[in-house]
Amino acid sequence: MTKQRIRDILRHGQPDDTITVQGWVRTKRELKEFTFIEVNDGSSMANIQVVLDATLPNYEEVLKRLNTGASVEVLGTLVPSPGKGQRIEVKASSIQVYGESDPETYPLQKKRHSFEFLRTIGHLRSRTNTLGAVMRVRNACATAIHRFFQERDFIWVHTPIITASDCEGAGELFTVTSFDLSKIPQTQEKTVDYSQDFFGKRAYLTVSGQLEAEVMAMAFQNVYTFGPTFRAENSNTSRHLAEFWMVEPEMAFCDLEGDQELAEAFLKYIFKFVLETCSEDMEFFNERIDKSVLETANNIINNEFERITYTEAVKLLEKADRQFEYPVEWGIDLQSEHERYLAEELFKKPLIVTNYPAGIKAFYMRLNEDDKTVAAMDVLAPKIGEIIGGSQREERLEVLQQRIQKLGILEEDIWWYLDLRRYGTVPHAGFGLGFERLVQFMTGMGNIRDVIPFPRTPLSADF
Ligand code: 4AD
Ligand code: MG
Repeated sequence: MTKQRIRDILRHGQPDDTITVQGWVRTKRELKEFTFIEVNDGSSMANIQVVLDATLPNYEEVLKRLNTGASVEVLGTLVPSPGKGQRIEVKASSIQVYGESDPETYPLQKKRHSFEFLRTIGHLRSRTNTLGAVMRVRNACATAIHRFFQERDFIWVHTPIITASDCEGAGELFTVTSFDLSKIPQTQEKTVDYSQDFFGKRAYLTVSGQLEAEVMAMAFQNVYTFGPTFRAENSNTSRHLAEFWMVEPEMAFCDLEGDQELAEAFLKYIFKFVLETCSEDMEFFNERIDKSVLETANNIINNEFERITYTEAVKLLEKADRQFEYPVEWGIDLQSEHERYLAEELFKKPLIVTNYPAGIKAFYMRLNEDDKTVAAMDVLAPKIGEIIGGSQREERLEVLQQRIQKLGILEEDIWWYLDLRRYGTVPHAGFGLGFERLVQFMTGMGNIRDVIPFPRTPLSADF
């Protein structure tokens, strides 16, 4: 007897196969001589139908304990299903209820729950169809990312979460402090000094692994990071998290052109992989969440991304047949309304905007010949806006020194970063992909809080 996942049984199972199913009950339907239950084990969206015959030895007792949410193990035989909707079903020869689920209090009932409500039960929401599909697609995206880079000889490097540098220079940092909780009497908690720091030094949760990735690229040529990053930006939008995952390739001997090529090939690869491996979940999103999910995915795979400079983007925005909330002029940071107008309405596909004004970009970006712009690039996606941010890095020591001086960054704080320009510097480039924004883009989910299992935002971090 083989124990299998429900997805595989439904795909490949044949009548008379004996099988074991382990999972959670989604529905129960009692008739006179039988009871039907539908069981899901998270392997796919599909439930398997199990028929419990009233002649089963412990039928009455089991029936009472079998409610939505209960965990079960069913042994049985596959039989062709006379009902609509499924090819085969399980005729149970025995069933064991592991854990009951009180129908009076179980929050997931057989109806559509709003995403807002589901966010209040983060510990149970992955048992729903939509969140289940999101988590499987999220997993497939992560798999595709590793495959893409490993096939291209990139080394996965593990950059620190605790760091002393503010890579983006935006001052949106969480600090790390230390204290011994066991020495704090509960009643006096309010008097604890929380300002203690990291063993006498200042430390933060990282906003990006880029600077350390640059270190590693100067030894291995091509590397990537894939890990959690943190931003203390108090923005309650559908695209911002305080804790999100970022993928950051960094390539030595590479310029902005190579960076753009990699970003485009990378996104195409992930979309193709997910369409191939999660077709059922992607069809579900297309049907239930956003009718353009499949069309968007196919467009990404089959069409070239648009490429324009920041200066061109500003001209297009100035010519737009509408009033933006945030006025457009050369030098502004593009706002989400501008990004979405360009990607969603004007070009109707992802576009790469390059060469932003130096004044609005981070210290490490390479200064262009014009002395005004830097070799930056953002990939903007319809409905999402910025999904990737990257640049060619400033590899010239003197230019970098002048830049940080202007910005008030102390050399002693990034001496090791400057050392990379002292010893064997090369042109290099990289980018950061916001992993949750990618999953949002892929699935059409409207809120970033619903594409990560445990979202951390100013308003939600219950556990
Ligand atoms: O544009 P950002 O700030 O770039 C960097 O951090 C660079 N150091 C990356 C690099 O060149 N290695 O962030 C990169 C991406 C953004 O394009 C966006 O997709 C995502 O990270 N991102 C967020 N995602 C969710 N919540 C937030 N608060 C985010 N902030 C940025
Ligand atoms: Mg950015």
